[in-house]
Amino acid sequence: MSDLENIAKQILAKGKGILAADESTGTMTKRLSSINIESTLENRLKFRETLFSSQGMKDYIGGVILYDETIKQKTSSGKSIPDLIKSFGSIPGIKVDTGAKNLAGSNEEKITEGLDGLRERLAEYFILGARFTKWRAVYNVSEKYPSDLAIKSNAHALARYAALVQEAKMVPIVEPEVLMDGEHDINKCFEITSKVLKECYKELKIHNINLKGTILKPNMILPGSKSKKKSNKTEIAKMTIKCLKENVPSEVTGIAFLSGGQTEIEATENLNEINKINDSNFLMSFSYGRALQQSALKNWGKNIEDIDNTQKIFNHRSKMNGLSTSAKWNIDLEKQLTN
Ligand code: 13P
Repeated sequence: MSDLENIAKQILAKGKGILAADESTGTMTKRLSSINIESTLENRLKFRETLFSSQGMKDYIGGVILYDETIKQKTSSGKSIPDLIKSFGSIPGIKVDTGAKNLAGSNEEKITEGLDGLRERLAEYFILGARFTKWRAVYNVSEKYPSDLAIKSNAHALARYAALVQEAKMVPIVEPEVLMDGEHDINKCFEITSKVLKECYKELKIHNINLKGTILKPNMILPGSKSKKKSNKTEIAKMTIKCLKENVPSEVTGIAFLSGGQTEIEATENLNEINKINDSNFLMSFSYGRALQQSALKNWGKNIEDIDNTQKIFNHRSKMNGLSTSAKWNIDLEKQLTN
């Protein structure tokens, strides 16, 4: 097994998934202001350090995606954040794109940027301890979008990114996110996600990517958040698996879904259902931001010195998601908030 495949397998080892804690300062400021906490360097670190030193990290979190600010920070006891994460048995990762900007030629859509100087930044992140990376492309869904231009240009950028990351001996998370916003139904999400994934793997192949040394971070197949037609978990799970089986080459080591605006319970329940009926060879796990952090953040906002209870809530959420990777979650377990 190659080193890259080994890293990908460690991150998604049985019962484990990824904690996406790579919110940019702008996004983190919004999250903190929603709980009336000032977004200072110290507060951003304090919340993240609380999560990274939770027991749940050891059992359920195989990798943590960091933001540039955090990977360079130290804990109150002087340990670097990547070392803290490693001491809890997890692998540090880093978001390396510089955000989605308006796409010239189709201005209501986005292109993700960050390729300039990426080779040099990757070398620095490797020294800081990162062993995997993330790049997120976003696609909005409407009557006329996403355009072919958005699909092609984002796939090309993802592939160039992935090639640079593998050259730097790290595992690229390839994240093409078809957004949940909109009135579209589940069939439209299936159709657009299929098109997006096809184009991504076409480009990854052209760029000679070792697919075994990658992790795909896709959206689940869901109706739009304003859709009049709701779907149940069985339909979501069936269509998600069908879409991935049809469009993702079987060499890809693992799939770690984003939560993308689902509630914490929805994200857990849908992943559990996916794993109940998963008849593919893919490991199906999670790489959640909001769906792992929301309740913990809310509790922390009430009293930022209450580390114990914040960690308890995070441990519980991690455990529930960990269980869903092997279809062992159920709603009764949700009520058992212990350590
Ligand atoms: P959410 O799970 O909150 O969608 O975030 C995952 C992520 O990393 C988006 O890039």
